[in-house]
Amino acid sequence: MIPTPHIGVIDQGVIAETILLPGDPLRAKFIAEKYLPDAVQFNAVRNMLGYTGTYGGQKISVMGTGMGMPSIGIYSHELIHLYGVKNLIRVGSCGSFQEEVKVRDIVIGMAASTNSNYASQYGLPGTYAPTASWSLLKKAVDVAARKGIPVKVGNILSSDIFYDDNPEAWKKWARMGIMAVEMEAAALYMNANRAGVNALCLLTVSDSLVTHELVSAEARQNTFTQMMEIALELA
Ligand code: HPA
Repeated sequence: MIPTPHIGVIDQGVIAETILLPGDPLRAKFIAEKYLPDAVQFNAVRNMLGYTGTYGGQKISVMGTGMGMPSIGIYSHELIHLYGVKNLIRVGSCGSFQEEVKVRDIVIGMAASTNSNYASQYGLPGTYAPTASWSLLKKAVDVAARKGIPVKVGNILSSDIFYDDNPEAWKKWARMGIMAVEMEAAALYMNANRAGVNALCLLTVSDSLVTHELVSAEARQNTFTQMMEIALELA
């Protein structure tokens, strides 16, 4: 096969059926080096580093997605349609919208509401609810319970806007029970739902719009490790 415009892989089977997707490509490199001892790099186009290795005897890949729905939309489309990826698991960070969702908590996006126009491509006669894969969600919740890692599961917001002109806009989403904001899950869920494959978004809370608290890099690493312990078991 010929490489896609954004992933320089020409052989089927180089990318595993299950892939972990952090936003930051250097995070992908870190995950590969720390958790996948036999990892081999498969992509460097645009420095969007991707690796395949094994974890617990299971073949698994990890690649950056960049920030925002257009970027994760491109990478997840190519992974699904050209490389046969079946399980796409975003591992990212989010900002809390709720008092009880604290910095360092782990949030799992059962559904991803959005202010993006991404769904317009489908020409639906209504609004769409981008939803996680039930099987991946159940597995993640079960793994977390077995490991004694608390998780909060619910609706998240995938926003196109990080620096909002209206600093109060998030409060309307908060009133609708949205737990936290990030910028990619809705496009990932729509691409997966449209293609009939599985997607899930695991997040650690890096900041709070309620309390304005931010986690230190050191504390972030700790929760990140717990999130990765869940994500790696999903292969
Ligand atoms: N907004 C959007 N995305 C984010 C945030 C945020 O506050 N924190 C982490 N990812």
